[in-house]
Amino acid sequence: MAFNWKKNIREQSANTIMLLDELHLHYLSQEEPREDIAFIFKAYPHIAWYICNKMPELAAWVNMLTQMVANEPLPSNMDSLIGDVMESIEDWIIYVTTPDDYHRQSFNEWDENELTSLTDYSGKTVVDIGSGTGKQAFAVAPFAKSVYCVEPVWNLRRFLKQRAEKEGINNIYIIDGVIEDLPFAPSFADVTISGHVVGEDIPSEISAMERITKPGGMIILCPGNNDADNDNHSQLLELGYSWSKFLEPGEDFGGGYKRKYWKVKD
Ligand SMILES: C[S@@+](CC[C@H](N)C(=O)[O-])C[C@H]1O[C@@H](n2cnc3c(N)ncnc32)[C@H](O)[C@@H]1O
Repeated sequence: MAFNWKKNIREQSANTIMLLDELHLHYLSQEEPREDIAFIFKAYPHIAWYICNKMPELAAWVNMLTQMVANEPLPSNMDSLIGDVMESIEDWIIYVTTPDDYHRQSFNEWDENELTSLTDYSGKTVVDIGSGTGKQAFAVAPFAKSVYCVEPVWNLRRFLKQRAEKEGINNIYIIDGVIEDLPFAPSFADVTISGHVVGEDIPSEISAMERITKPGGMIILCPGNNDADNDNHSQLLELGYSWSKFLEPGEDFGGGYKRKYWKVKD
C-alpha cells in the first residue's frame, strides 16, 4: 500500500537503492526472493556491485537474485517495475531522500502533552529510540538534562542534527544504533522512550529498553500501538504496562487513535 507521503515516489531513480542504509538492505535480503529487485540488479549491475562491496555479507543474496533472472529478458516495463519497488519501500526511500515529507504529515501533529505529562523530565537523562525526525526527542528536550536520539538511518541523523542547530537546542545527542543492540550501559537512562518503533518482537524490545533504564526510571512507548486489542497490547499488559489512547490527527496514512504505554522500572 502506498502511503502517499511523497508525490513522485514512483519516479525515483533505481539508484536510490544505493542510498538505503545497511539495516534496510539487510531487511530486503530477509524477504522472500524478489524478482523485481532481481531485475533491477540485472538492468543496473552497478547497484549489485555497490551492495556486494558495501555489505559483503549480502553478496550471496545478490548473486542468488542475479541467478534467478539470468536467463530472463528484462521486462519491457522497467520504469513501472522500479515504481512498484519504490512504492513498496516508500518509508525508507523518504527517510534517505526527503525526511521532510515524513515530518510534515499531519499524524505527526499529535499533542506533545501526551508525552510530556507522563513524567517529570527535569534534570533527567532521556534516550529516544528510533527518533526519526524528532517528534518525541524535541518535545522533551526543553525539560530534560540531555536527550540521546538513537537512529539507524544516516539521513535522519543528519535531519535531527540540522533541526537541533536550526532550533538552537544543545542538549540533544544523536547516535547510530538499533533497539536490538542499544549502545548504552545498563541503567544509563532515567527515561527511555520510543514512538512508532516497537512491534516486531515486544518481549525482546521491551527487555532492551528496560536494560538501559534505571530502577525507578520510566519506559514510555508513545505511540506504542494502534488502537487495537492485538497481541502486542496483551503482551504489554502482561509486562505490567499502563496505557491510554490519544488521537493522531489527519486523514492520511497513519492518522487515527493510537495507544501509548508506560511503566516505572522495578
Ligand atoms: C515510523 S518512524 C518513527 C519516528 C519517530 N519516533 C516518530 O514517532 O515520528 C520509525 C523510526 O524507527 C527507526 N528504526 C527502524 N528500525 C529500527 C530499529 N531496529 N531500531 C531503532 N530504530 C529503528 C526508523 O529509521 C525510523 O526513524
